[in-house]
Amino acid sequence: MSSYRGGEKVRKWQDFVQLKEVGPRDGLQNEKQFISTEDKIAWIDMLSNTGVSEIEYSSFVNPKWIPALSDAKEVGKRIKRNPTVSYSALVPNIRGLEDALESGIDGASVFMSASETHNLKNINKSINETFPVLKQVIEEAKKEGKKVTGYVSTVFECPYDGKISPNQVLRVCDQLITNGVDDISLGDTIGSAVPSQVELLLEEILKRFPKEKIIMHFHDTRGMAIANIMTSLDYGISRFDTSIGGLGGCPYAPGAAGNVATNDVLYLLHGLGISTGIQEKRIQDASIFIQNKLGKKLPSRSLAFIEGTA
Ligand code: HMG
Ligand code: MG
Repeated sequence: MSSYRGGEKVRKWQDFVQLKEVGPRDGLQNEKQFISTEDKIAWIDMLSNTGVSEIEYSSFVNPKWIPALSDAKEVGKRIKRNPTVSYSALVPNIRGLEDALESGIDGASVFMSASETHNLKNINKSINETFPVLKQVIEEAKKEGKKVTGYVSTVFECPYDGKISPNQVLRVCDQLITNGVDDISLGDTIGSAVPSQVELLLEEILKRFPKEKIIMHFHDTRGMAIANIMTSLDYGISRFDTSIGGLGGCPYAPGAAGNVATNDVLYLLHGLGISTGIQEKRIQDASIFIQNKLGKKLPSRSLAFIEGTA
């Protein structure tokens, strides 16, 4: 799809963009209220029939840290698998990988931060202590034939250490790629970036890695995520993590709001003429389902519009 200014073609976007639905993991991890296992399964089963190609269904971390997802194993075992969907989960260490494999992951997502203090608060290790732990997870997951994504958090700003330079991000990405991850998801964990920062980072990242290996993961704390996605599209990025209704946040990044809403990103992409394979109506239905279970309005603007509450 192209855009025109003064009759002149100025940009051409990708024909297809792939969204990973992270609502059941990133969305729920920050919720105080425990959504029952039955409801999680029913919700993920709805998501499996939206046309989305990957769902991050839970997290195999210490349940004392993330109680909302303490039923990860059972959820993985009992969801109805749609063969067109890849089911992945967050895995911090070998203990988590064993549980994740038992619950039926197709892919493992390892995670760490570009900044020291967020890494420490989030996973209780320094950056250098984290690499060997993740290397072992990556190697074992690959032996089992699983795809591995490496999340890098706080790529623009850390809630504790402040602004992060592209070099700090590159260092972590280099090591994760060397250790064998298939792709990298770059996280604006606290939703602070503006498009010029996205440009600065992607300029450097894309000198080093092919765009097909890069996924952008925007939280929408300040309403900048859609603008940042537009900028990423201009750089040829065609993979984004999104969360249904805009649920989410990192419990170890104070003030961080939810991920950019799947609903709003679909409205944007489909409006631009970019296909996603996802049915917006089914995403709206699944949003209303979880919104009712949580008993609170989700932040997505498109959802509010459809519901007549915008
Ligand atoms: P630790 O406390 O340093 O671990 O945790 P440890 O190895 O010293 O073990 C301590 C206890 O944890 C032991 O239990 C272990 O058995 C248990 P105890 O003897 O005390 O009863 N344990 C586990 N239990 C279940 N599953 C496991 C596991 N591992 C150890 N896998 C650990 C290290 C990483 C596990 C811990 O720090 C943790 O669970 N952190 C969770 C952090 C988290 O989930 N944060 C949110 C996700 S990241 C995010 O949201 C960002 C992202 O969205 C991208 C972005 O937005 O930027 C991905
Ligand atoms: Mg996140």
